[in-house]
Amino acid sequence: MLAFVTRAMGKQAVLKGAGLVKPVSVTRIPGRYLVHQEGLPKLPVPPLRQTMGRYLAALQPIVSQEELEHTRKLVEEFQSPGGVGERLQKGLERKARKTENWLSDWWLQTAYLEYRLPVVVHSSPGVVLPRLQFHDRQGQMWHAAKLIAGVLDFKSMIDNEALPVEYLGGKPLCMNQYYQILSSCRIPGPKRDSVVNHALSMKPPSHITVVHNFQFFVLDVYNSDGSPLTVDQIYVQLEKIWNSSLQTNKEPIGILTSQHRNTWGKAYNNLIKDKTNKESVRAIQKSIFTVCLDAPMPRVSDELYRSRVATQMLHGGGSRWNSGNRWFDKTLQFIIGEDGSCGLMYEHAPAEGPPIVALVDHVVEYTKKSEMVRAPMIPLAMPQKLRFNITPEIKKDIEKAKQNLNIMVQELDVKVMVFSHFGKEFPKSQKMSPDAFIQIALQLAYYRIYGLCCSTYESASLRMFRLGRTDTIRSCSQESLLFVQAMDNAAKQNQEKVDLLQKAIRAHRAYTDMAIQGQAIDRHLLGLKLQAIEDLTTIPEIFMDTAYAVASHFNLSTSQVPAQTDCVMCFGPVVPDGYGVCYNPMAEHINFSVSAFNSCAETNAARLSHFLEEALIDMRDLLMQTPRSKL
Ligand code: COA
Repeated sequence: MLAFVTRAMGKQAVLKGAGLVKPVSVTRIPGRYLVHQEGLPKLPVPPLRQTMGRYLAALQPIVSQEELEHTRKLVEEFQSPGGVGERLQKGLERKARKTENWLSDWWLQTAYLEYRLPVVVHSSPGVVLPRLQFHDRQGQMWHAAKLIAGVLDFKSMIDNEALPVEYLGGKPLCMNQYYQILSSCRIPGPKRDSVVNHALSMKPPSHITVVHNFQFFVLDVYNSDGSPLTVDQIYVQLEKIWNSSLQTNKEPIGILTSQHRNTWGKAYNNLIKDKTNKESVRAIQKSIFTVCLDAPMPRVSDELYRSRVATQMLHGGGSRWNSGNRWFDKTLQFIIGEDGSCGLMYEHAPAEGPPIVALVDHVVEYTKKSEMVRAPMIPLAMPQKLRFNITPEIKKDIEKAKQNLNIMVQELDVKVMVFSHFGKEFPKSQKMSPDAFIQIALQLAYYRIYGLCCSTYESASLRMFRLGRTDTIRSCSQESLLFVQAMDNAAKQNQEKVDLLQKAIRAHRAYTDMAIQGQAIDRHLLGLKLQAIEDLTTIPEIFMDTAYAVASHFNLSTSQVPAQTDCVMCFGPVVPDGYGVCYNPMAEHINFSVSAFNSCAETNAARLSHFLEEALIDMRDLLMQTPRSKL
């Protein structure tokens, strides 16, 4: 049996130097995935008293003393022997014994499928890839063809169960998300959505969908002998698609998927009443992934270019531009503009960012390969254009969707910043965790703008456990507060500031370790609350408390998504007066994306980026100016 290739999360250690694209295993090893999965531990339910104690500690920097005292009493009552907390805890422990993962389905439902805001901006992340060096449609087609071939190459690793297992902190990770990202799609419902995954069906799909000028096409990407089309073959097919979608006056049917989920759920039922429409929608849902060939977007300066591409990836730029050139429910959509802009967006329900960027890393390396296999040019059938019958009612739904989408476009404020003063090697040289260093810099930036700190979310992977998704690292701690307060205090000596910085960084790293080991507080608290709902008992008071609302209002929603590729993921804020911050720490620079909403007068993405840049530099200078022997 082939040994698993190991791959450290966030870096392709064993693949370094050799390039990321390894010859893909052609031998399918059935059962390898299951053997790996079954060897993973189950997600634990943390002890009740531990979570309650840590909850109070997390509240300390973000609520008043009075509120904290009030919550302390509620916590005492909740966790008292024989009390509500113990009963709910037993319920969770029972669930943990009976299921593969006590949290994963609840999380999928509450965080995604029952979440009713549009997936656009509010849930689906985008990825900004480096600008491609082409300026015409041949270049666009050629790159799209290579990209498609690269994804199919990655897919063969999934199909052959030959994916390198990832590791975090020396422990193997759950690989399930990789099996959820291709051939899947979200489907709207009037109250709750669902996700359909065709990868494991009796007849898995052999086509992708391509959209150009708002017109969708089915492109078969496998030959009759099961071999994937070569880059040349795909290129020829893309040319045919391009040439039969030159009209620019088509109804942007895909824009319907950008609506509020209840609205889209209703419009969806109306749309698929028509048999042709139903078949077309099904072809998109079933496809392996979607490729969006975008029209050029308005030109901007080099400085604004990446931020502009981030908006293209997050919402398409508006109904006049490329927002109709999407099916936002599709799990994976690669986007390639005629102007060299490139990236992707993905629907979040089936997976987190890391598996997506692992796929991106593979595809980017694949597209760099110069020798492309040239296949004999056997004529291939014309890709099928998907037809839609637009009734007056559907037309009305499209118009409404356009209006709402355009409001969202106006609302979103995005700044992509390349921080070029140093990368993750600097904190490492100081024996500090780069992730913790960046998070503490964010705390400092926020404090300098607002004079206070806020509830902060950083995603932590739970993939050490079977079917694990994420928990929350609460980056705002008592230690981070003491540091940010001291940093600009002229009365404090540098040595004291450095000590406080070190303490804050250590506290962050300790929280991270606790979170990835399944001992953080947020999902446990959610579980206790959902258990109460499931038991049909009244919601315990700790969840009706102001402090709980403050703790759940994440003004800073952040995530590290590391990649080998010089790219950055981006997403919207999770509260109206908040920021979404994502970063990819490279060795010598850090790519950041910062988002906010324009309707909130207090937030501004460029401002936070600017303060973040200053905070990082000031923290570095502080460390550099303090004699090393005293550190
Ligand atoms: N001294 C020197 N080096 C250190 C160090 C220290 N004190 N602490 C850490 N490092 C090194 C690490 O060894 C690592 O080295 P590498 O670049 O060679 O791999 C590097 O610094 C990065 O470590 P760190 O910055 O501490 O972060 P991490 O890689 O452990 O990641 C999380 C932290 C929280 C991002 C990660 O645990 C995680 O959960 N990731 C998933 C997040 C996610 O799902 N996001 C997507 C949501 S859509």
